[in-house]
Order: sequence, then C-alpha cells, then structure tokens
Amino acid sequence: HVYAEPHRGQIHFSPKRGWTNDPNGLVYYNGEYHLFFQHNPYGVNWGNMHWGHAVSTDLVHWKELAIALYPDELGTMFSGGAVVDTKNSSGFGSLQKVPLILFYTAAEKSWTQGLAHSTDGRNFQKTDKPVVDKITAGNRDPKVIWHEPSKRWVLVVYVTEEGDQHAMHFFTSTDLKSWTFTSKVLGGQGNDRYLFECPEFFELPVEGATKKESKWVLTGANSQYAIGTFDGKTFRPEEERMYSQQGRDYYAAQTFSDEPNGRRVEIGWWRTNTHQNGSAFNQSMSIPTELSLRKTARGTRLIRKPVVELEALRVDAQQLQSSNLTPTSANALAAFDSELAEIKLRIKPKDAHTIHINVRGLHILYQVADQELVVDNVRAHAPLINGEQELTIFVDRTGVEIFASEGEVFMPINYNFDQKNMRYSLHVAGGAATLVSGQLHTLKSIW
Ligand code: FRU
Repeated sequence: HVYAEPHRGQIHFSPKRGWTNDPNGLVYYNGEYHLFFQHNPYGVNWGNMHWGHAVSTDLVHWKELAIALYPDELGTMFSGGAVVDTKNSSGFGSLQKVPLILFYTAAEKSWTQGLAHSTDGRNFQKTDKPVVDKITAGNRDPKVIWHEPSKRWVLVVYVTEEGDQHAMHFFTSTDLKSWTFTSKVLGGQGNDRYLFECPEFFELPVEGATKKESKWVLTGANSQYAIGTFDGKTFRPEEERMYSQQGRDYYAAQTFSDEPNGRRVEIGWWRTNTHQNGSAFNQSMSIPTELSLRKTARGTRLIRKPVVELEALRVDAQQLQSSNLTPTSANALAAFDSELAEIKLRIKPKDAHTIHINVRGLHILYQVADQELVVDNVRAHAPLINGEQELTIFVDRTGVEIFASEGEVFMPINYNFDQKNMRYSLHVAGGAATLVSGQLHTLKSIW
C-alpha cells in the first residue's frame, strides 16, 4: 500500500519511490503550489539527479506528478529555483499564458546553469544554451527573484572559489536569459559551511522595529544566515552567521516564489532515514513554515512558525488547564496518546532545573539555567522569553519538528518511532514550574 509504509511520514511530503534531497523550484503558479525536488528515481540513495515534481493547493496535501527534468548531455539536474514571469519578459509565453521558469544546474559534466520553461506547469522545455556559464567547477543552485525597485531579475548562485572559499555570486537580468555579474558575498572556508550551497535570498519587514523598515536575508544550505541591505546589485551584510535551526537533520531549505498571500513560506529537506525494511523510498520534506524577521533583545532574528494550513490536519483538541508542576506531580500528558500529533506547551520554569517531555520514547530536555534544548544529542540555545518557554512539537512517524523561543529556534529531529509506543509525558525536576497552557491535537494523515 503506497504511503502506508512504517517509516512513511504521514504529515510530510515524500516521493512514492526513490531518493529525494533538496526541495527545488518552490513556486505558486496558476492556482497551485509546486514542489520540485532532487530525485533519484532508480534507487534509495543519492545519485542520477532528476527534478521530481508535486503540486498542492494548500501546502499540506501533495500530488506527485511526472518527472519534470531529466539529465541531459550537459549533466545531471542539480538544485535551483523557479519564478513566474508575469510580464513575459523572457518571451517564452504571453501575457495571457505567463511562463513558469525553472533554473537548475546541469552538474557533474558542464556545471552550467540552465533554464526550462512551461506554460502549463506540467511540461518543461529546456533552452538550447545554458543561461549562466560555468564559473568554477561545482558552482550550483541558482535561485532567481524579482527586484521591484531596480526592475531587474536577480540570480544568486553558489560558487566554490580558490582555497575552498564559499561564495554567493549575484547576477542581474531583464529577460531571464542574459545575465550580468554584479557582486559577490564571501561565506566560510572548507568545513566552515557558512553560505555554502543552495542560496536563498528575500526581503522581509522587521517586526518590532521603531520605524518601518525591511531587511534582506541571505542563507546557505545549513540555514545559517546574514541580514543586510540590497540595492539591486550588491548585498551588504549587517549581521552575519546567525543560526535559526539546529542543523543536523534540516538542509537546503527554499522559500516559495510568488506566494499568493504575500507570505515567505519555507520547506526544507528533512533528512529522515526512511529506507529501512526494504522500503522503496528514502528521505522527505519538512512541514512548511512561515518566516518573518523580528527585532529581539539579541538582534534581528529570523522567526519560523508552522503555516496556518496545517491546522486542517487537527482531528481534535485537548486543552490543559494552567497548573503547578512539581517533581512529584502526576504526568500531565497521561491522557494523550496518538501516533501523529501537534502539541503546544507554554511553561514558566520558576525553580525547576529541567523540564522533561517524552514523546513516544523520544526525550526532549530543557535545561533552564543555560536555556538549552537537548533532543537526541542535538543541542540548541533556546532563550526564555518573558520568563517562559513555549514549545510546539509536530510528531510524525519519522520524528519531531520543534519550535521554541517564539519561533527563534526550529529543531527538526529524525527519530524513527516505535510504532507501538504512543505514550507522552511531562515532568519537571529540581523545583516547581507552572504549566501556563497546553493544547494537544491528534493529527490525520495527508495521504
Ligand atoms: C545540497 C546539494 C546541492 C546540489 C544538490 C545535489 O544538498 O548538494 O548543492 O545541487 O544537493 O543533489
């Protein structure tokens, strides 16, 4: 039975068969969200990269379609982005039939950046020639955006420079076909993976700023990011090397172009080991999250929250009353059992040293003194905000996605649950805490 395998995420997209890694070409076009993805149709390991394709009308329920891009004489199909060419600046469609344009890297042979266009969102036609030539071997992952003030398209691509220096190169264009180099930003070197692979670049208003302002965000594949200004040609970082997620199981996140509600919605590759027991598929996407920028005591920070559409998966709601938690209190989650869940707990730690949440055998620990969240040996600094910690936890067969510190921290953890264990618990140690509020939802499958 397709989509019923023991390690098939039930609230996450994964391909029917084969391997996936990065989400590609995230775009809203003609009434559908499109999710293309790095895809090996022939096996459960990385290789033979194609662009797989799925569509959704609500970001939650996905329908897998035919493969969009096949390897060709220039190379295999590595990651990239997509835009809707509303003004038909490329000439690949018309104002009535606006073209959808995909940018990809033809990797492993030519390392050129190619373009494929479509006017039906189903059939994709590559152009004869690459649109951006090889810069250095291994350059990859073109992401294109429209920059309204300069009325230009902007392409950002990852380049490995001499000395294993990671860099993001910027180009501009008026027709999406001929591109002019304008500037570059340097990241880390070698194993320092700041601004390494899969650039993402967007502007967001800053919430909580004293005057109305917006900033540009540049990220690499590990989600480490810089915040700064952009004049259409040059990105000038002001704050650098911030982390918005813990980094082990989440990679190559991208945001949707042309999102109809003006939101900045992100999906990342959730590295989940789903190929056990002869399963015919491997890896999956994260849940979609909505991004914003917020001025905090620590500086301007990227904030993630689950998209509102996920609420459609809730089957029921249990509200927990505000209560005092002591080290000897009964388990406040004893009455809850569900394979798929969304749990929101707001806790004021007061005198407690540690907070222990157990999700179906997975231990989630919050250490109050150093404000650290520890899950499956992954640690993240998760500050208390106004003396409280609110944790939102999405539970699927392949692990949890945890939002902490009002969305400043996002922690997707791969953990293949024991199917028989449906127990949840909440305990404190070292002193008393207050459970301010709690909501527990059973979720239904998207399949
Ligand atoms: C990131 C990445 C990209 C590349 C793709 C190949 O995970 O290495 O840089 O385009 O995967 O599958």
